Amino acid sequence: MGGHKPLKTINAMYDLIIQDATIVSSQGRQVADIAVEGGKVAYVGSRPAGRAHETISAIGKFIMPGVIDTHVHFRDPGHNHKETWETGSRAAVSGGVTTVLDMPNTRPTTTDLEALQDKRERASANSRANFGIWAGATANNTDDLNKMVDAGAVGIKIFMGSSTGPLLVPPEAMESIFAKTRGLIGCHAEDESILRDVHAQHADNPSPKHHEVRPAAAALAAVERLIELVEAHNRHVHICHLSTADEMHLLTPVKNRLPISVEACPHHLFLSAETSEALGNLSKCNPPVRPELDRKAMWTAINRGRIDTIGSDHAPHTLEEKAAEYWKAPSGLPGVETSLPLLLSAVKFGKVSLERMVDLMSERPAALFGLTNKGSIQEGKDADLVLFREGEITKLKDSDLLTMVGWSPFLGRDVGVKPELVVVNGRIVSRSGT
Ligand code: DOR
Ligand code: ZN
Ligand code: ZN
Repeated sequence: MGGHKPLKTINAMYDLIIQDATIVSSQGRQVADIAVEGGKVAYVGSRPAGRAHETISAIGKFIMPGVIDTHVHFRDPGHNHKETWETGSRAAVSGGVTTVLDMPNTRPTTTDLEALQDKRERASANSRANFGIWAGATANNTDDLNKMVDAGAVGIKIFMGSSTGPLLVPPEAMESIFAKTRGLIGCHAEDESILRDVHAQHADNPSPKHHEVRPAAAALAAVERLIELVEAHNRHVHICHLSTADEMHLLTPVKNRLPISVEACPHHLFLSAETSEALGNLSKCNPPVRPELDRKAMWTAINRGRIDTIGSDHAPHTLEEKAAEYWKAPSGLPGVETSLPLLLSAVKFGKVSLERMVDLMSERPAALFGLTNKGSIQEGKDADLVLFREGEITKLKDSDLLTMVGWSPFLGRDVGVKPELVVVNGRIVSRSGT
């Protein structure tokens, strides 16, 4: 950033100019004009940008690089009654998410090249947001995984514990995935054998506490195993949805020397077992919403720089599905459109800075996933921009939601308002939450 010369002569017309915006990055704030041309940021600077087909005044408002949500489950193909690329991406952009990385537990699972290409076609035809696709590991698909990575999959997703869908990697297959594949590895880190044992202990109870059925010990054991594997193979592992103080304790001494990055999800930052009891199955997700002590530890970790990214783990299920009894109700919560509003409420209440929020939601995800044209507002980068007001708080209501399933575990809570303007590749795709 800074007072560069406009790339164009003074009489040229840009596609879009955003005037007098306060641009936020992890490094601070700067008031500038932003000019957009051909899907890219063409000029950022303190001198007026010139003329454009559309000019928007952003005096007193903030602008950040688009949120990159590296963890969504858009259900397409296979479960299109829960979400599709069209509805999921519409919800995403309404909440400032301009790039989504989609998980492989669709039907069919994204576990070979054909499934990857099919999903890519669906997304290309229907997504309003930029997208990337995770490849799903099975017990024996290392060749397919490499083909998918070579064809542009954003990473290899390993379910170490079973969750929604059939994907599960048994312990004996982990070594060969680490030894034989390429690219970033993302892990759902819960140990399957501990999950099974503890499940069995609760089997006679019709309504146990979900965080007791899937205890912290399962997450801890899986993270312990991952540390060993990273030490042995020097592969980059991104641990999804870290949720406990114990995992953090284990990772803190090794994180600086090993290529391990860590994701936190809004539901582990804003919900706890104690405060979400009334939600019943609507708060059932894996890993579970944890006790308050863990939730507080997550905030400490955020502010001590021990968490790298915030991903929503947007995992929609219908209210009808959630109305089943505890053991039959599916796990997962919608959240792609509420993560930025929730974080903005945390900014308002002094729990995190805007700068740190941009780091967690845009800059770090771009850096970790090699999205070199994203994550910052600079000349030549993709014009993925989010214009928002800071400090305005509202109560989340049904009519704010665009996800197909039409509910949120955060209804009634204080949230920041959805962004006023969202730009994806230079095009305005959402205004004021629509
Ligand atoms: O709660 C969850 N729901 N955890 C997962 O790992 C999967 C997700 C889903 O796809 O529903
Ligand atoms: Zn998961
Ligand atoms: Zn997930």
